[in-house]
Amino acid sequence: MLELLKSRRSIRKFQDKEIEKDKLDVILKSALLSPSSRSIRPWEFIAVTDKKLLEQLSRCREHSSQFLAGAPLGIVVLADSGACDVWIEDASIAAIIMQLTAKSLGLGSCWIQVRERFHSSGERAEDYIKRILNVPEKYRVECIIAVGYPAEDKKPYDEEGLLYQKIHYNQF
Ligand SMILES: Cc1cc2nc3c(=O)[nH]c(=O)nc-3n(C[C@H](O)[C@H](O)[C@H](O)COP(=O)(O)O)c2cc1C
Repeated sequence: MLELLKSRRSIRKFQDKEIEKDKLDVILKSALLSPSSRSIRPWEFIAVTDKKLLEQLSRCREHSSQFLAGAPLGIVVLADSGACDVWIEDASIAAIIMQLTAKSLGLGSCWIQVRERFHSSGERAEDYIKRILNVPEKYRVECIIAVGYPAEDKKPYDEEGLLYQKIHYNQF
């Protein structure tokens, strides 16, 4: 597990290669296995592979989301905010679990923040995405996870560089 965590890096350049159906299924299954508060499981996931939709979604924000247009897959992570007061935590946990699962399958991924971010028109990025994907009103959008075979090499983290000073024992 520590080796997987050290080598997981955000990947924003992807090969022009589809993700096999069995790998996509494993990633989505891993999301459904995520823990959630009181096991309410308020999340929903939309696996987007349609090129035109990915291109439209890549413009959900003015910056930091454009690379989605070059990915073969974007998983939109939604949650029913009325179902649970910690839907942000639940959705985030599912998102990182999918990123780690993708890494374990030889895929790269990157989180695109959506909640509290805006489209260049001033519209909330969430509303822009919900309009494009026909998402019912009650759902909130936490993020999109871009996934694909990596087309960039990133150095794994080394243990010497970790911020050990962030760790406290018993008291701050
Ligand atoms: C909550 C969260 C939001 C992020 N939002 C974005 C984003 O909108 N666009 C992006 O390119 N990367 C985004 N990232 C990726 C971070 O920039 C990246 O994880 C960080 O720079 C550390 O690099 P690493 O993932 O390679 O370790 C986000 C990561 C997290 C955890």
